[in-house]
Amino acid sequence: MTILVTGARGQVAQALIARLHAAGLPVRAASAKPAELTVPAGVPAAELVLGRPDTFDAALRGADQVFLYPDPDGIDAFVKAAQAAGTGHVVLLSSSSVLSPDAETDPMASHSLRVERALTASGLPSTFLRPDAFAGNALAWAHDISQGLPVQLAYPDAELAPIHSADIADVAFEALTGTALRGRAITLTGAEGLTFRQQLAILSEVAGHDIPIVRITHAEAERQLSRYMPAASAGSLLAWWAAASRQPAAVADTTRTLLGTPARTFRQWAIENAAAFTRR
Ligand SMILES: NC(=O)c1ccc[n+]([C@@H]2O[C@H](COP(=O)([O-])OP(=O)(O)OC[C@H]3O[C@@H](n4cnc5c(N)ncnc54)[C@H](OP(=O)(O)O)[C@@H]3O)[C@@H](O)[C@H]2O)c1
Repeated sequence: MTILVTGARGQVAQALIARLHAAGLPVRAASAKPAELTVPAGVPAAELVLGRPDTFDAALRGADQVFLYPDPDGIDAFVKAAQAAGTGHVVLLSSSSVLSPDAETDPMASHSLRVERALTASGLPSTFLRPDAFAGNALAWAHDISQGLPVQLAYPDAELAPIHSADIADVAFEALTGTALRGRAITLTGAEGLTFRQQLAILSEVAGHDIPIVRITHAEAERQLSRYMPAASAGSLLAWWAAASRQPAAVADTTRTLLGTPARTFRQWAIENAAAFTRR
């Protein structure tokens, strides 16, 4: 009985692998680049690339459950291989964006939606975790903040309810080890709405120095984001932040509701990651 955790260098996967291993459960860490992976001693690693079916069998051998990072490329073949390997349950790291009215055409939402649909069509029992924004997205500001540069934002008043990756991992752990969440599709958020401006104020307190904000145009932000992602995804992200500037964040406070424990706060995340924001 092994639990395969894919996307193993990712923030949620890392927290989940540590939790499963600490609980004494057999876990295998699968990554596109296992050589660059850090896992607790005793956790075996496997190469897994969803676009490369030759990596499936070794990664899936003996895996009765899979925690899956979504990638629509090769998902049908992966699901077939999982069924052939005897996998009986998949917990998918999906996204709350699949609930948006334009999820079919939105490049980011459709990425997760296509994987949800492939799993549903296969009949393989699945649980969909649909988080909203990760607290860890703040790392995108770390370079500028640590260099003493202002953070450039088109929508500083966009309000999100960022969730700590360890809270997502806690919910995933429950979905993999208990029965209460199995088969459900669950939207996950942090406990409170915070604008980017408020997140930066917390980071400023924790890092111990001012973090100036410079307002830029939508077009300039799109140009900057397009250096790191396809232009369509940049447009979709900005449209989401623009909408989030016009309304308060939807707060599900999932950790308390599902697990009965308070969610980790954004401040806690900031303290844990303060080194990334300290001025160099
Ligand atoms: N970020 C958000 O706000 C958010 C919100 C809702 C849903 N999601 C969903 O969650 C999933 C992961 O989101 P993310 O990309 O923001 O988070 P992430 O946890 O940083 O995951 C990134 C993935 O990219 C791969 N990767 C490649 N190079 C890496 C590196 N240097 N360090 C770490 N990982 C590296 C990893 O898989 P390998 O080890 O296999 O290479 C890893 O699982 C996505 O499917 C996304 O749609 C994200």
